[in-house]
Amino acid sequence: MFKTSNTGFILIVDDNPTNLSLLCEALNSEGFRFRVAVDGESAIAQAERNQPELILLDVQMPGIDGFETCRRLKANPVTQNIPIIFTTALADTESKTKGFSLGAVDYIPKPFAQEEVIARVRVHLQLKQLTESLEQQVSDRTKALQKAQVQLVQQEKLSTLGELIAGIGHEINNPINFISSNIPPLQEYITAVTELLLLYEQEYPNPTAKITNTIKNLDLNFVLEDMGKILNSLELGSERILNLSSSLRNFSRSDSDAKISADLHQGIDSTLMILQHRLNANSDRPRIEVIKSYGELPQVYCYLGQMNQVFMNILANAVDALDEAIMEGKISNLNPQIKIATEIDSEQLVIIRIADNGVGIPERLKKRLFEPLFTTKTVGKGTGLGLSIAYQIVVEKHKGVLEVNSQPGMGTEFIIKIPT
Ligand SMILES: Nc1ncnc2c1ncn2[C@@H]1O[C@H](COP(=O)(O)OP(=O)(O)OP(=O)(O)O)[C@@H](O)[C@H]1O
Ligand SMILES: [Mg+2]
Repeated sequence: MFKTSNTGFILIVDDNPTNLSLLCEALNSEGFRFRVAVDGESAIAQAERNQPELILLDVQMPGIDGFETCRRLKANPVTQNIPIIFTTALADTESKTKGFSLGAVDYIPKPFAQEEVIARVRVHLQLKQLTESLEQQVSDRTKALQKAQVQLVQQEKLSTLGELIAGIGHEINNPINFISSNIPPLQEYITAVTELLLLYEQEYPNPTAKITNTIKNLDLNFVLEDMGKILNSLELGSERILNLSSSLRNFSRSDSDAKISADLHQGIDSTLMILQHRLNANSDRPRIEVIKSYGELPQVYCYLGQMNQVFMNILANAVDALDEAIMEGKISNLNPQIKIATEIDSEQLVIIRIADNGVGIPERLKKRLFEPLFTTKTVGKGTGLGLSIAYQIVVEKHKGVLEVNSQPGMGTEFIIKIPT
């Protein structure tokens, strides 16, 4: 049986005391809760303050009539969804049509038949409650679908990107290993050959003219010296590629179905290594300085590949915010920086703060950041998924916390808290 809900009530609007008492009596007899207003304006004021579930509205009243009252109620977003039933002695078709065209849901003729009043009120309360529950269901389903979509995209991103990165890391590994493992013997051979040359020089201080000329043309001393430097830089370069290859493999460590004990610092460092090209100076801005202050962290039992994705999304956003600050001239004389600090708190939560001194986030946008598909970036630059994925990984998968502090023009700090 449909009644007004615990807090809900019906608003009766009528200037005529006899009509009022008849309607009150009818509703009372069925246990409906109600309030009354005796003119259009006070009805509007009441309905704005406290929305009734249904309005019984008289047409002919002093001041603004029922039609005008209805028009105003329907024009106001606060009251527009309240169903209105006209009560009137004007039985002519024109008035009825006018009522419906203004958005009324029904019409009760005077003089009232109590049963009819109750029957109509009940039907419309039921319709309203069904509509509301339907709307709620649609909105719940839409949210669930959006979430499922984000999860799918996340898995898809993770697996394709992860496989690609792991594949590249692996493929680089073999050739760079040939190179780097051959550098030390090459260094030895070159040292030996150099020594041999020097020995020749000592033992045969007066070589033939052909040899003297070749030595002169070659600039032998310079070549010997430079050869060492070249070898050193080859060694350094191959070491970097080796690091990169191990970062790529660490970054994409396949761990989708199992948590592992991991060093989050290594995760952050791998991510920074992969983002290196975006941190470098370009024609618009100087190099982004990364300032790390790492505390002592224990191993954290987590999905490391996914945590790396969190670091990647937050760091990539920080770079975007710094680019935006500089390219759009929003902050002049900016010395672009990203600060990364880690610590463990007294409750054994690992805390990672990633802060930039870029554009910052306006207050009104803050609550929308973690919504799927929310982006302020142009098409092609942002999909608006980064932070919603990060939120799912941190909060839902790891039972952690993801917070943001930001002031427009001053920069932004994301705080990740993960239980160990
Ligand atoms: N460090 C930051 N500084 C300023 N604004 C930020 C920062 N991080 C996020 N935002 C804002 O939050 C929005 C949502 O970020 P999110 O990472 O979810 O999506 P996106 O970066 O726009 O796109 P995607 O990451 O999917 O490529 C961004 O569009 C941006 O407006
Ligand atoms: Mg992003």
